Amino acid sequence: MIIIKTNEQIEHMRKAGEILAACHREIAKMIRPGITTQEIDQFAEAFMKKHGATPEQKGYNGYPYATCASVNDVICHGFPGKYVLKDGDIVTIDMVVNLNGWLADSAWSYAVGNVSPEAQHLLDVTKNALYKGIELAVVGNRIGDISNAIQVYAEGEGLSVVREFIGHGIGEKMHEEPQVPHYGPPHRGPRLKEGMVITIEPMLNIGTFRSKLDPDGWTARTLDGSLSAQYEHTIAITAEGPVILTAQ
Ligand code: MF3
Ligand code: CO
Repeated sequence: MIIIKTNEQIEHMRKAGEILAACHREIAKMIRPGITTQEIDQFAEAFMKKHGATPEQKGYNGYPYATCASVNDVICHGFPGKYVLKDGDIVTIDMVVNLNGWLADSAWSYAVGNVSPEAQHLLDVTKNALYKGIELAVVGNRIGDISNAIQVYAEGEGLSVVREFIGHGIGEKMHEEPQVPHYGPPHRGPRLKEGMVITIEPMLNIGTFRSKLDPDGWTARTLDGSLSAQYEHTIAITAEGPVILTAQ
């Protein structure tokens, strides 16, 4: 069942989203060669607490950290740790803010120092893919319209779309219906209605879309070791069109 939110509930989620967006803006300033992903994680957790919020990912299905920090060939759910970011890396920071029981979810990929043209292309196309999906998040469209637009654009740019991890409804729970794949046929899936809140969070790879899991049970990597990027926003479907609740 897809839970429809009232305007008031969406307003709660927007406030969570504002904290999350502000946290990403601070992280963008911190990212440089020499910083560890653990330092970023600790900053994010402290930032949320300072703003009266909590990191919803910590403890979620046993996930141990406030953020996911996914470097280079890691697609998602990388553990923050002692890894020192170096010039040319790309890193995706993903987090979910809980403010008074209402959630917002946003991931962002960052370039560390100077990255290769191939890496920059991956970052640019993945971010564009997110916004192409958001454009179609309007009342009356179907989830498949979003999915298909992202896949057609990404593959047209020579990149592949991760299949195993997808977007989702969100509200008082991190993962609600509907599922939001970033690939597949148009005109299929649930029809979008006013008051739905979903994430769109394409993960694109330079090589194969296939992935493998590290022995830690969380860290998902590209099977061929190629780079992967991700951008994610939380979106409310309204009569006036899509509203990005995590806009930076
Ligand atoms: N934020 C992720 C998402 O987009 C979920 C991360 S899984 C967790 O769905 F275990 F780290 F929470
Ligand atoms: Co998400």
